[in-house]
Amino acid sequence: MWNWGATMKELLTGTSIRSARYLADARGRRVSPRPEQIARLDALGGALPLNPCDPAEVLAWLDDIGSPATVVTTGGRYFGFVTGGTLPAALAANWLAGVWDQNAAYSVMSPVAAKVEEIVLAWILDLLGLPPACGAGFVTGTTMANFSALAAARTALLKRAGWDVEEDGLFAAPPIKVVVGKEAHVSLLKALALLGFGRARVMSVPTDGQGRMIAAALPQLDPHTLVCIQAGNVNTGAFDPAAEICSLAHEAGAWVHVDGAFGLWAAVSPHYAHLLEGTSLADSWAIDCHKWLNVPYDSGIAVVRQAEDLRRALSMSAPYLETNGAREPCDYTPEASRRARGIELWAALRSLGRSGLRELIERNCRLAEVFAKGLQRAGFEVLNEVELNQVLVSFGSAEETRRVIAEVQNEGTCWCGGTEWHGRTAMRISVSSWATTEEDVERSLAAIVRIANQGKHFAG
Ligand SMILES: Cc1ncc(COP(=O)(O)O)c(C=O)c1O
Repeated sequence: MWNWGATMKELLTGTSIRSARYLADARGRRVSPRPEQIARLDALGGALPLNPCDPAEVLAWLDDIGSPATVVTTGGRYFGFVTGGTLPAALAANWLAGVWDQNAAYSVMSPVAAKVEEIVLAWILDLLGLPPACGAGFVTGTTMANFSALAAARTALLKRAGWDVEEDGLFAAPPIKVVVGKEAHVSLLKALALLGFGRARVMSVPTDGQGRMIAAALPQLDPHTLVCIQAGNVNTGAFDPAAEICSLAHEAGAWVHVDGAFGLWAAVSPHYAHLLEGTSLADSWAIDCHKWLNVPYDSGIAVVRQAEDLRRALSMSAPYLETNGAREPCDYTPEASRRARGIELWAALRSLGRSGLRELIERNCRLAEVFAKGLQRAGFEVLNEVELNQVLVSFGSAEETRRVIAEVQNEGTCWCGGTEWHGRTAMRISVSSWATTEEDVERSLAAIVRIANQGKHFAG
Protein backbone atom coordinates (compact mmCIF):
# COMPACT_ATOMS: atom_id res chain seq x y z
CA MET A 1 0.00 0.00 0.00
CA TRP A 2 1.18 3.53 -0.82
CA ASN A 3 2.52 5.23 2.31
CA TRP A 4 1.95 9.00 2.00
CA GLY A 5 4.07 9.89 5.06
CA ALA A 6 7.07 7.80 4.01
CA THR A 7 6.92 9.02 0.41
CA MET A 8 6.79 12.69 1.43
CA LYS A 9 9.59 12.20 3.94
CA GLU A 10 11.79 10.67 1.28
CA LEU A 11 10.97 13.39 -1.25
CA LEU A 12 11.46 16.29 1.15
CA THR A 13 14.59 14.80 2.72
CA GLY A 14 16.06 14.32 -0.75
CA THR A 15 15.14 17.88 -1.64
CA SER A 16 16.67 19.22 1.56
CA ILE A 17 19.92 17.34 0.80
CA ARG A 18 19.98 18.83 -2.69
CA SER A 19 19.18 22.30 -1.33
CA ALA A 20 21.89 22.12 1.33
CA ARG A 21 24.38 21.03 -1.33
CA TYR A 22 23.39 24.00 -3.49
CA LEU A 23 23.95 26.41 -0.62
CA ALA A 24 27.25 24.80 0.40
CA ASP A 25 28.51 25.18 -3.18
CA ALA A 26 27.15 28.71 -3.59
CA ARG A 27 30.00 30.44 -1.76
CA GLY A 28 32.63 28.93 -4.02
CA ARG A 29 30.70 29.04 -7.29
CA ARG A 30 31.05 31.62 -10.06
CA VAL A 31 28.18 34.08 -9.72
CA SER A 32 26.80 34.07 -13.27
CA PRO A 33 26.06 30.76 -14.95
CA ARG A 34 28.12 29.75 -18.00
CA PRO A 35 26.45 29.93 -21.44
CA GLU A 36 26.51 26.13 -21.78
CA GLN A 37 24.69 25.81 -18.43
CA ILE A 38 22.02 28.20 -19.67
CA ALA A 39 21.78 26.30 -22.96
CA ARG A 40 21.06 23.05 -21.08
CA LEU A 41 17.80 24.59 -19.80
CA ASP A 42 16.23 23.53 -23.09
CA ALA A 43 16.27 20.02 -21.65
CA LEU A 44 13.47 21.06 -19.28
CA GLY A 45 11.20 21.71 -22.27
CA GLY A 46 9.95 19.67 -25.19
CA ALA A 47 6.43 18.30 -25.44
CA LEU A 48 4.67 17.76 -22.10
CA PRO A 49 4.82 13.99 -21.46
CA LEU A 50 1.52 12.17 -21.52
CA ASN A 51 2.12 10.18 -18.36
CA PRO A 52 2.91 11.11 -14.75
CA CYS A 53 6.45 10.96 -13.43
CA ASP A 54 7.82 10.11 -9.99
CA PRO A 55 8.14 13.42 -8.01
CA ALA A 56 11.68 12.48 -6.87
CA GLU A 57 12.69 12.12 -10.50
CA VAL A 58 11.11 15.51 -11.32
CA LEU A 59 13.11 17.14 -8.54
CA ALA A 60 16.34 15.46 -9.56
CA TRP A 61 15.85 16.67 -13.11
CA LEU A 62 15.09 20.22 -11.93
CA ASP A 63 18.14 20.30 -9.66
CA ASP A 64 20.54 18.79 -12.18
CA ILE A 65 19.52 21.15 -14.98
CA GLY A 66 18.15 24.17 -13.11
CA SER A 67 20.64 24.66 -10.24
CA PRO A 68 23.72 25.23 -12.44
CA ALA A 69 21.77 27.83 -14.45
CA THR A 70 20.94 30.04 -11.47
CA VAL A 71 22.56 33.40 -10.79
CA VAL A 72 24.14 32.85 -7.38
CA THR A 73 22.53 35.72 -5.47
CA THR A 74 22.82 33.90 -2.15
CA GLY A 75 26.58 33.45 -2.09
CA GLY A 76 27.73 36.91 -0.91
CA ARG A 77 29.28 38.27 -4.12
CA TYR A 78 26.20 39.39 -6.03
CA PHE A 79 26.03 43.19 -6.12
CA GLY A 80 23.50 43.69 -8.93
CA PHE A 81 20.31 45.79 -8.73
CA VAL A 82 19.41 45.92 -5.00
CA THR A 83 19.37 42.27 -4.06
CA GLY A 84 19.34 40.67 -0.65
CA GLY A 85 20.21 37.04 0.00
CA THR A 86 17.91 34.83 2.00
CA LEU A 87 18.45 34.61 5.74
CA PRO A 88 18.60 31.02 7.04
CA ALA A 89 15.50 31.31 9.23
CA ALA A 90 13.57 33.04 6.43
CA LEU A 91 14.47 30.31 3.94
CA ALA A 92 13.48 27.51 6.30
CA ALA A 93 10.24 29.33 7.18
CA ASN A 94 9.53 29.66 3.47
CA TRP A 95 9.74 25.85 3.19
CA LEU A 96 7.48 25.33 6.17
CA ALA A 97 4.98 27.88 4.85
CA GLY A 98 5.08 26.00 1.53
CA VAL A 99 4.16 22.81 3.33
CA TRP A 100 1.33 24.63 5.13
CA ASP A 101 0.06 25.96 1.77
CA GLN A 102 -1.93 28.72 3.44
CA ASN A 103 -4.10 31.20 1.59
CA ALA A 104 -3.45 34.49 3.38
CA ALA A 105 -6.53 36.26 2.02
CA TYR A 106 -8.81 35.84 5.06
CA SER A 107 -8.19 35.06 8.70
CA VAL A 108 -10.66 32.17 8.52
CA MET A 109 -8.55 30.64 5.74
CA SER A 110 -5.35 30.97 7.74
CA PRO A 111 -5.42 32.22 11.32
CA VAL A 112 -1.63 31.86 11.49
CA ALA A 113 -1.03 33.97 8.36
CA ALA A 114 -3.40 36.70 9.56
CA LYS A 115 -1.97 36.81 13.09
CA VAL A 116 1.64 36.79 11.93
CA GLU A 117 0.97 39.74 9.60
CA GLU A 118 -0.31 41.75 12.57
CA ILE A 119 2.74 40.84 14.66
CA VAL A 120 5.18 41.63 11.85
CA LEU A 121 3.45 44.91 11.07
CA ALA A 122 3.74 46.07 14.68
CA TRP A 123 7.45 45.11 14.76
CA ILE A 124 8.23 46.85 11.47
CA LEU A 125 6.36 50.06 12.31
CA ASP A 126 8.27 50.19 15.58
CA LEU A 127 11.65 49.41 13.94
CA LEU A 128 11.17 52.06 11.26
CA GLY A 129 9.69 54.67 13.60
CA LEU A 130 6.36 54.82 11.78
CA PRO A 131 3.03 55.55 13.54
CA PRO A 132 1.73 52.39 15.31
CA ALA A 133 -1.85 52.73 14.01
CA CYS A 134 -0.89 52.58 10.32
CA GLY A 135 -2.66 50.11 8.03
CA ALA A 136 -0.63 47.84 5.77
CA GLY A 137 -0.84 45.31 2.99
CA PHE A 138 1.68 42.52 2.38
CA VAL A 139 2.45 42.53 -1.33
CA THR A 140 5.05 41.30 -3.81
CA GLY A 141 7.60 44.13 -3.63
CA THR A 142 7.95 47.87 -3.89
CA THR A 143 6.22 48.20 -7.25
CA MET A 144 3.02 46.80 -5.77
CA ALA A 145 3.60 48.55 -2.44
CA ASN A 146 3.82 51.86 -4.31
CA PHE A 147 0.72 50.91 -6.30
CA SER A 148 -1.30 50.01 -3.20
CA ALA A 149 -0.27 53.04 -1.14
CA LEU A 150 -0.84 55.38 -4.08
CA ALA A 151 -4.29 53.84 -4.60
CA ALA A 152 -5.04 54.84 -1.00
CA ALA A 153 -3.74 58.35 -1.72
CA ARG A 154 -5.93 58.58 -4.82
CA THR A 155 -8.97 57.46 -2.85
CA ALA A 156 -8.35 59.93 -0.01
CA LEU A 157 -7.49 62.95 -2.16
CA LEU A 158 -10.53 62.46 -4.39
CA LYS A 159 -12.79 61.87 -1.39
CA ARG A 160 -11.68 65.25 -0.05
CA ALA A 161 -12.78 66.70 -3.39
CA GLY A 162 -16.19 65.04 -2.99
CA TRP A 163 -15.47 62.24 -5.48
CA ASP A 164 -15.84 58.49 -4.88
CA VAL A 165 -13.24 56.97 -7.20
CA GLU A 166 -14.12 53.37 -6.30
CA GLU A 167 -17.71 53.89 -7.45
CA ASP A 168 -17.37 56.54 -10.15
CA GLY A 169 -13.94 55.87 -11.63
CA LEU A 170 -11.52 58.44 -12.95
CA PHE A 171 -13.34 59.81 -16.01
CA ALA A 172 -14.58 63.30 -15.08
CA ALA A 173 -12.96 63.10 -11.62
CA PRO A 174 -11.44 66.32 -10.21
CA PRO A 175 -7.76 66.52 -11.22
CA ILE A 176 -5.00 65.51 -8.84
CA LYS A 177 -1.61 67.15 -9.21
CA VAL A 178 1.16 64.54 -8.95
CA VAL A 179 4.68 65.67 -8.05
CA VAL A 180 7.75 63.41 -8.24
CA GLY A 181 11.50 63.93 -8.10
CA LYS A 182 13.44 63.86 -11.36
CA GLU A 183 15.18 60.73 -10.07
CA ALA A 184 12.01 58.84 -9.07
CA HIS A 185 12.32 55.10 -9.62
CA VAL A 186 10.69 53.92 -12.85
CA SER A 187 8.48 51.50 -10.94
CA LEU A 188 6.90 54.44 -9.12
CA LEU A 189 6.03 55.96 -12.48
CA LYS A 190 4.61 52.61 -13.56
CA ALA A 191 2.43 52.48 -10.45
CA LEU A 192 1.20 56.02 -11.13
CA ALA A 193 0.42 55.04 -14.72
CA LEU A 194 -1.52 51.95 -13.59
CA LEU A 195 -3.60 54.18 -11.33
CA GLY A 196 -4.56 56.47 -14.18
CA PHE A 197 -2.27 59.37 -13.24
CA GLY A 198 -0.20 59.03 -16.42
CA ARG A 199 3.60 59.06 -16.60
CA ALA A 200 3.83 62.22 -18.72
CA ARG A 201 1.25 64.13 -16.67
CA VAL A 202 3.31 64.17 -13.45
CA MET A 203 5.31 67.25 -12.47
CA SER A 204 9.00 66.49 -12.12
CA VAL A 205 11.06 68.39 -9.54
CA PRO A 206 14.79 68.99 -10.16
CA THR A 207 17.31 67.09 -8.06
CA ASP A 208 20.81 67.78 -6.79
CA GLY A 209 24.04 65.99 -7.75
CA GLN A 210 23.13 62.96 -5.59
CA GLY A 211 19.57 62.73 -6.93
CA ARG A 212 17.89 64.40 -3.94
CA MET A 213 14.77 66.44 -4.71
CA ILE A 214 15.32 70.18 -4.27
CA ALA A 215 12.53 71.20 -1.89
CA ALA A 216 12.75 74.86 -2.91
CA ALA A 217 11.87 73.83 -6.47
CA LEU A 218 8.53 72.21 -5.52
CA PRO A 219 5.58 73.60 -7.47
CA GLN A 220 2.58 75.20 -5.76
CA LEU A 221 1.00 72.53 -3.54
CA ASP A 222 -2.66 72.24 -2.53
CA PRO A 223 -5.03 69.72 -0.92
CA HIS A 224 -5.34 67.95 -4.29
CA THR A 225 -1.63 67.28 -4.64
CA LEU A 226 0.19 63.98 -4.26
CA VAL A 227 3.92 64.41 -3.61
CA CYS A 228 6.06 61.28 -4.10
CA ILE A 229 9.46 61.33 -2.43
CA GLN A 230 12.19 58.73 -2.19
CA ALA A 231 14.18 57.22 0.68
CA GLY A 232 17.19 55.61 -1.01
CA ASN A 233 17.96 56.43 -4.65
CA VAL A 234 18.57 53.23 -6.60
CA ASN A 235 21.84 54.62 -7.99
CA THR A 236 23.34 56.72 -5.20
CA GLY A 237 21.39 55.64 -2.11
CA ALA A 238 20.54 59.32 -1.43
CA PHE A 239 17.41 60.46 0.43
CA ASP A 240 15.01 63.25 -0.50
CA PRO A 241 14.74 65.93 2.23
CA ALA A 242 11.62 64.46 3.84
CA ALA A 243 11.29 66.86 6.78
CA GLU A 244 11.27 69.93 4.57
CA ILE A 245 8.98 68.42 1.94
CA CYS A 246 6.50 66.97 4.46
CA SER A 247 6.28 70.31 6.23
CA LEU A 248 5.61 72.24 2.99
CA ALA A 249 3.17 69.60 1.73
CA HIS A 250 1.19 69.34 4.94
CA GLU A 251 0.90 73.11 5.28
CA ALA A 252 -0.80 72.98 1.88
CA GLY A 253 -2.90 69.92 2.75
CA ALA A 254 -1.10 67.67 0.22
CA TRP A 255 -0.39 63.93 0.60
CA VAL A 256 3.23 62.72 0.83
CA HIS A 257 4.15 59.20 -0.26
CA VAL A 258 7.61 57.73 0.37
CA ASP A 259 9.15 55.16 -1.97
CA GLY A 260 11.38 53.67 0.70
CA ALA A 261 12.17 50.40 -1.08
CA PHE A 262 15.48 49.75 0.65
CA GLY A 263 16.36 53.10 2.26
CA LEU A 264 13.71 52.95 4.97
CA TRP A 265 15.56 50.08 6.63
CA ALA A 266 18.39 52.49 7.47
CA ALA A 267 16.11 53.80 10.23
CA VAL A 268 17.15 50.84 12.40
CA SER A 269 20.69 52.20 12.72
CA PRO A 270 21.47 55.24 14.88
CA HIS A 271 24.36 55.95 12.45
CA TYR A 272 22.07 56.31 9.46
CA ALA A 273 18.69 57.30 10.95
CA HIS A 274 19.44 61.01 10.46
CA LEU A 275 19.20 60.44 6.69
CA LEU A 276 15.51 59.67 7.18
CA GLU A 277 14.64 62.72 9.25
CA GLY A 278 10.99 63.64 8.65
CA THR A 279 10.16 60.46 6.72
CA SER A 280 7.78 59.32 9.45
CA LEU A 281 5.70 62.48 8.91
CA ALA A 282 4.52 61.24 5.50
CA ASP A 283 1.09 59.77 4.75
CA SER A 284 2.16 56.52 3.11
CA TRP A 285 5.27 54.40 2.56
CA ALA A 286 6.39 51.55 0.30
CA ILE A 287 8.89 49.11 1.82
CA ASP A 288 10.71 46.21 0.23
CA CYS A 289 11.52 43.10 2.23
CA HIS A 290 13.26 40.95 -0.40
CA LYS A 291 15.92 43.64 -0.63
CA TRP A 292 17.46 44.68 2.67
CA LEU A 293 15.49 42.45 5.03
CA ASN A 294 16.85 39.46 3.08
CA VAL A 295 13.70 37.34 2.85
CA PRO A 296 12.94 35.18 -0.22
CA TYR A 297 11.22 36.73 -3.23
CA ASP A 298 8.68 38.18 -3.39
CA SER A 299 7.93 40.49 -0.50
CA GLY A 300 7.04 44.12 0.12
CA ILE A 301 4.72 46.15 2.36
CA ALA A 302 2.43 49.10 1.61
CA VAL A 303 1.93 51.21 4.74
CA VAL A 304 -0.69 53.97 5.04
CA ARG A 305 -1.09 56.33 8.01
CA GLN A 306 -4.91 56.17 7.94
CA ALA A 307 -5.63 52.45 7.63
CA GLU A 308 -9.14 53.24 6.39
CA ASP A 309 -7.76 54.94 3.25
CA LEU A 310 -5.99 51.74 2.23
CA ARG A 311 -8.96 49.57 3.15
CA ARG A 312 -11.39 51.74 1.22
CA ALA A 313 -9.14 51.58 -1.87
CA LEU A 314 -8.53 47.82 -1.85
CA SER A 315 -11.27 45.95 0.00
CA MET A 316 -14.16 44.06 -1.58
CA SER A 317 -17.22 42.40 -0.18
CA ALA A 318 -19.66 39.65 -1.02
CA PRO A 319 -22.04 37.72 1.20
CA TYR A 320 -19.84 34.62 1.19
CA LEU A 321 -16.83 36.73 2.25
CA GLU A 322 -18.47 38.29 5.34
CA THR A 323 -16.16 38.13 8.37
CA ASN A 324 -16.24 38.79 12.08
CA GLY A 325 -14.73 42.28 12.04
CA ALA A 326 -11.10 41.21 12.56
CA ARG A 327 -8.34 42.69 10.34
CA GLU A 328 -8.72 40.81 7.09
CA PRO A 329 -5.40 40.70 5.18
CA CYS A 330 -6.99 40.96 1.73
CA ASP A 331 -8.77 44.21 2.63
CA TYR A 332 -5.34 45.85 2.30
CA THR A 333 -3.91 44.22 -0.84
CA PRO A 334 -4.77 44.27 -4.55
CA GLU A 335 -4.99 40.45 -4.56
CA ALA A 336 -7.45 38.17 -2.82
CA SER A 337 -5.73 34.74 -2.73
CA ARG A 338 -2.01 34.95 -2.07
CA ARG A 339 0.77 33.15 -0.26
CA ALA A 340 1.51 33.85 3.41
CA ARG A 341 4.62 35.97 2.97
CA GLY A 342 4.33 37.29 6.53
CA ILE A 343 5.68 33.94 7.77
CA GLU A 344 9.17 34.55 6.37
CA LEU A 345 9.12 38.12 7.61
CA TRP A 346 8.35 36.90 11.10
CA ALA A 347 11.18 34.35 10.95
CA ALA A 348 13.68 36.86 9.56
CA LEU A 349 12.91 39.46 12.20
CA ARG A 350 12.68 36.95 15.05
CA SER A 351 16.04 35.45 14.12
CA LEU A 352 17.85 38.77 13.64
CA GLY A 353 16.33 40.68 16.52
CA ARG A 354 16.75 44.44 16.59
CA SER A 355 20.53 44.26 16.96
CA GLY A 356 20.99 41.70 14.18
CA LEU A 357 19.08 43.84 11.70
CA ARG A 358 21.08 46.90 12.71
CA GLU A 359 24.31 44.94 12.31
CA LEU A 360 23.27 43.73 8.85
CA ILE A 361 22.48 47.28 7.64
CA GLU A 362 25.64 48.78 9.13
CA ARG A 363 27.89 46.00 7.81
CA ASN A 364 26.54 46.39 4.27
CA CYS A 365 27.08 50.18 4.41
CA ARG A 366 30.62 49.71 5.79
CA LEU A 367 31.42 47.23 3.01
CA ALA A 368 30.11 49.69 0.39
CA GLU A 369 32.68 52.15 1.75
CA VAL A 370 35.39 49.48 1.50
CA PHE A 371 34.45 49.07 -2.18
CA ALA A 372 34.51 52.83 -2.79
CA LYS A 373 37.86 53.38 -1.04
CA GLY A 374 39.45 50.37 -2.76
CA LEU A 375 38.34 51.56 -6.20
CA GLN A 376 39.55 55.11 -5.52
CA ARG A 377 42.90 53.78 -4.25
CA ALA A 378 43.22 51.88 -7.52
CA GLY A 379 42.73 55.15 -9.41
CA PHE A 380 39.08 54.92 -10.43
CA GLU A 381 36.46 57.61 -10.00
CA VAL A 382 33.58 57.05 -7.57
CA LEU A 383 30.70 59.19 -8.80
CA ASN A 384 28.49 59.34 -5.71
CA GLU A 385 28.81 60.29 -2.06
CA VAL A 386 28.70 56.83 -0.52
CA GLU A 387 26.34 57.48 2.38
CA LEU A 388 24.51 54.15 2.32
CA ASN A 389 25.08 50.83 0.51
CA GLN A 390 25.32 51.98 -3.13
CA VAL A 391 28.51 52.76 -5.08
CA LEU A 392 28.81 54.18 -8.61
CA VAL A 393 32.18 53.89 -10.28
CA SER A 394 33.50 55.00 -13.66
CA PHE A 395 36.48 53.34 -15.32
CA GLY A 396 37.06 56.22 -17.74
CA SER A 397 35.16 56.45 -21.00
CA ALA A 398 31.66 55.04 -21.38
CA GLU A 399 33.06 52.35 -23.64
CA GLU A 400 35.76 51.31 -21.16
CA THR A 401 33.26 51.25 -18.28
CA ARG A 402 30.91 49.06 -20.32
CA ARG A 403 33.85 46.73 -21.12
CA VAL A 404 34.73 46.37 -17.43
CA ILE A 405 31.11 45.66 -16.48
CA ALA A 406 30.75 43.00 -19.19
CA GLU A 407 34.05 41.32 -18.28
CA VAL A 408 33.31 41.37 -14.55
CA GLN A 409 29.98 39.68 -15.21
CA ASN A 410 31.63 37.18 -17.53
CA GLU A 411 34.61 36.43 -15.27
CA GLY A 412 32.26 35.27 -12.52
CA THR A 413 33.94 36.23 -9.24
CA CYS A 414 31.16 38.72 -8.59
CA TRP A 415 28.30 40.39 -10.45
CA CYS A 416 27.74 44.15 -10.79
CA GLY A 417 25.35 45.94 -13.15
CA GLY A 418 25.64 49.14 -15.14
CA THR A 419 23.81 52.45 -15.15
CA GLU A 420 23.90 56.01 -16.46
CA TRP A 421 24.38 58.70 -13.85
CA HIS A 422 24.07 62.35 -14.86
CA GLY A 423 25.47 61.70 -18.31
CA ARG A 424 28.19 59.26 -17.17
CA THR A 425 28.23 55.51 -17.70
CA ALA A 426 28.91 53.77 -14.40
CA MET A 427 29.15 50.39 -12.72
CA ARG A 428 26.61 50.04 -9.89
CA ILE A 429 27.58 48.15 -6.77
CA SER A 430 24.82 47.47 -4.26
CA VAL A 431 25.82 45.74 -1.01
CA SER A 432 22.54 44.37 0.30
CA SER A 433 23.09 40.75 1.31
CA TRP A 434 23.45 39.37 4.84
CA ALA A 435 25.89 36.83 3.36
CA THR A 436 28.47 39.35 2.11
CA THR A 437 31.68 39.30 4.13
CA GLU A 438 34.83 41.44 4.16
CA GLU A 439 36.54 38.61 2.27
CA ASP A 440 33.84 38.61 -0.43
CA VAL A 441 34.41 42.33 -0.94
CA GLU A 442 38.21 42.03 -1.04
CA ARG A 443 37.98 39.16 -3.55
CA SER A 444 35.49 41.06 -5.70
CA LEU A 445 37.52 44.27 -5.54
CA ALA A 446 40.64 42.41 -6.64
CA ALA A 447 38.78 40.93 -9.64
CA ILE A 448 37.25 44.28 -10.67
CA VAL A 449 40.55 46.16 -10.36
CA ARG A 450 42.45 43.45 -12.25
CA ILE A 451 39.92 43.53 -15.11
CA ALA A 452 39.87 47.34 -15.16
CA ASN A 453 43.69 47.53 -15.19
CA GLN A 454 43.86 45.20 -18.20
CA GLY A 455 42.15 48.03 -20.13
CA LYS A 456 44.79 50.51 -18.95
CA HIS A 457 47.59 48.25 -20.21
CA PHE A 458 45.91 47.75 -23.59
CA ALA A 459 45.26 51.49 -23.89
CA GLY A 460 48.88 52.30 -22.85
C1 LIG B 1 13.72 53.05 -4.93
C2 LIG B 1 13.10 51.83 -5.55
N1 LIG B 1 11.78 51.79 -5.77
C3 LIG B 1 11.17 50.72 -6.32
C4 LIG B 1 11.89 49.60 -6.68
C5 LIG B 1 11.18 48.41 -7.30
O1 LIG B 1 11.14 47.37 -6.38
P1 LIG B 1 10.53 45.91 -6.74
O2 LIG B 1 11.44 45.35 -7.79
O3 LIG B 1 10.58 45.18 -5.45
O4 LIG B 1 9.14 46.10 -7.23
C6 LIG B 1 13.27 49.59 -6.48
C7 LIG B 1 14.09 48.44 -6.89
O5 LIG B 1 15.30 48.46 -6.84
C8 LIG B 1 13.89 50.73 -5.88
O6 LIG B 1 15.22 50.76 -5.63
